Amino acid sequence: MISLEAISAHGVGDLDNLAPAINGDPAGKNLLSIRQLANEDIYQYIEEARAAERYVRDPTRRGVDLLPHAVMIALMRQPSTRTGGTMVTAIEKLGGPGHLFSGMASSSEAKGESLADSYVALATQSDMIGIRTKEEDGPYHAAHAIAQSFRFGKLWQPVPIINLGNGTDEHPTQALGDVFTIAKWQDFDRLDGLTVAVVGDHERYRAHHSDLLIAKRLGMRVIAVESEAAPVPDDIANDLGDNLERTLNLDAAMREADVLVMGRNPDEYDGDDPWEQTRSRWLADSYAGWTIDADRLQQMKPDAIVMHPRPRRDELHPSVDSDPRMWDVEQMASQVAMRMAIVARHLGVSIVDHEKMATDAEFAIGVQ
Ligand code: CP
Repeated sequence: MISLEAISAHGVGDLDNLAPAINGDPAGKNLLSIRQLANEDIYQYIEEARAAERYVRDPTRRGVDLLPHAVMIALMRQPSTRTGGTMVTAIEKLGGPGHLFSGMASSSEAKGESLADSYVALATQSDMIGIRTKEEDGPYHAAHAIAQSFRFGKLWQPVPIINLGNGTDEHPTQALGDVFTIAKWQDFDRLDGLTVAVVGDHERYRAHHSDLLIAKRLGMRVIAVESEAAPVPDDIANDLGDNLERTLNLDAAMREADVLVMGRNPDEYDGDDPWEQTRSRWLADSYAGWTIDADRLQQMKPDAIVMHPRPRRDELHPSVDSDPRMWDVEQMASQVAMRMAIVARHLGVSIVDHEKMATDAEFAIGVQ
């Protein structure tokens, strides 16, 4: 969990203001952590994503012009194939342009600009900024710089910041897309009571942190399949309380799980740190024992599903790809509709309301 100490280097002083409870109303708010969400908020995003998907998967429509001229910038300071691109697709499916900035080689940082000044500059060009950083405090730092400039009366609007992955801390939009995927598999019936097994590095793999936090808020039972090299951090274990069980035994968890979530070894955080390098090697040994191939998959319930935020390495062998339990590609595709839902709701519009108004208008024309 990000702490005030962790972000104090940037003078960020008020987590409640930067990451407020969504409380049924995301309009204008930053989305920095799953901790901002209550159960009802998550179901609201799911309903929005469901409406979004009715538009994008209708080949005669492919989207809905709900936010023409709204500009979204996805600033990916770490590599990404899915998240940044999906954010751009999401705003474009809503009728507005999206811009993807990958890496910072061509940024004015090269001319000595501070990160805070860079963030404010981007806020003058856009209505929403999605940010991925290697540093835990990255999106919080951006949110603070932009909120401060707005408070000084310099920016005409407080541009919402969406966390697209902050170091080893969280990946909240991924987790929302993941539970949307699970909701589809469940035909939008209730999600509480499902057993979700989450496998891999629980210390540094940010998507797992957000998945665990969101599963708790939905009343799911979570089995964390851990390596001793990277167990579930204490703050997340405390948050989950009785919803969390921990094991070293992947096969036992596979037999019990309704949903299996696999993740990779995030050794990009090793750097020059000898302990992180040791952790990654230790984890590599665990991953060697966790590889799931087509034969191993057979022990799961026939109606269970397997997910992976991707990118994957060897932990999910390609021999599993044709199995109907593999929902990882659907999981990637689901992120478009969920990110449309997030963009829309944080910019103050509702796809659900728009669809209802359009349906009512069509009905009124029909009965004339
Ligand atoms: N799942 C995910 O965050 O993928 P990318 O790193 O490709 O964005």
